[in-house]
Amino acid sequence: MAAASELILLVRVGDGIGPEIVGETLRVVGWFQDHRGLELHIQHALTGGAAIDAEGAAISDHTMAEAFDSDAILFGSVGGPDWDHLPRSQRPETGLLRLRKELDLFANLRPAVCYPALAGASALKPELIAGLDIMVVRELTAGVYFSEPRGISDMVGGGRRAIDTQAYTSFESERVARAAFELARGRKGRLCSVDKANVMETGQLWRAVVSSSAGDYPEVELSHMFADNCAMQLVRKPSQFDVIVTDNLFGDLLSDETAALSGSLGLLPSASLGAVGEPGRARALYEPIHGSAPDIAGRGVANPLATILSFAMCLRHSFARPHDAEL
Ligand code: IPM
Ligand code: MG
Repeated sequence: MAAASELILLVRVGDGIGPEIVGETLRVVGWFQDHRGLELHIQHALTGGAAIDAEGAAISDHTMAEAFDSDAILFGSVGGPDWDHLPRSQRPETGLLRLRKELDLFANLRPAVCYPALAGASALKPELIAGLDIMVVRELTAGVYFSEPRGISDMVGGGRRAIDTQAYTSFESERVARAAFELARGRKGRLCSVDKANVMETGQLWRAVVSSSAGDYPEVELSHMFADNCAMQLVRKPSQFDVIVTDNLFGDLLSDETAALSGSLGLLPSASLGAVGEPGRARALYEPIHGSAPDIAGRGVANPLATILSFAMCLRHSFARPHDAEL
């Protein structure tokens, strides 16, 4: 049982390199407990392939209940070849998606910065990525990841048909837009909203909603860009971007791209927040952007920095300890 004043950190190491990168991060957590007076109750729970093997589901109801009771969740990585044969609804990834959806973690912050030592590792010329500092804000609880109807059905007369649905309400677009405006205002003050308003109805509504929120943030310069153009502009001239806000699917794609710009996907953290700017018992999940890297798992060579930096984001956004986050 945690003492009343203690924060509860729920730790899920996950699959593949998860145990290694989280293990190293917990050493850092321990340092803050020993040296910085961080009072933390650490609980462990299973999610993903490890949970499928031990508990029969990618995330159990019991683990979900623990997640609701925690102040923050620190996550390793999910998935691996052992579970690739499972149908989509039973795959390890569904544990992570359930957490995001049921905890309503709608604002996914994916910062990409270029460390000078890694400038040579980027596929882009060093002069293009020097000083790279982009924050992708990805909507995480709606869009094609969760909208209904979806499924695969047999067609009369032969063949099969697959359906995914992309849906966004004005409420879902507005709350993530506002989170992004808030972030932009504390950075360089530039927000680029990314959609496919030239093709998609969801893009039309998204753009209208983001534009109408802009009036409340006069100090932020808002621009709009089509997603395909954004993908191209990111490799052509990444320095034009400060904060990017976009939907769940475009955010998935573009955040991998911004991460790779920085030289390595292995170094970037993320925060998935229920309510940005509300430290305390706001629901939040912190995880590296990279996957479970089964090819190098268990060899002690995985770089834990993305997970350590995810804990730094936890110190900032959930535990209201910005100075410790800097440390
Ligand atoms: C990510 C990952 C996940 C996603 C997978 C593991 C379900 O690619 O967090 O970007 O598609 O959201
Ligand atoms: Mg992804």
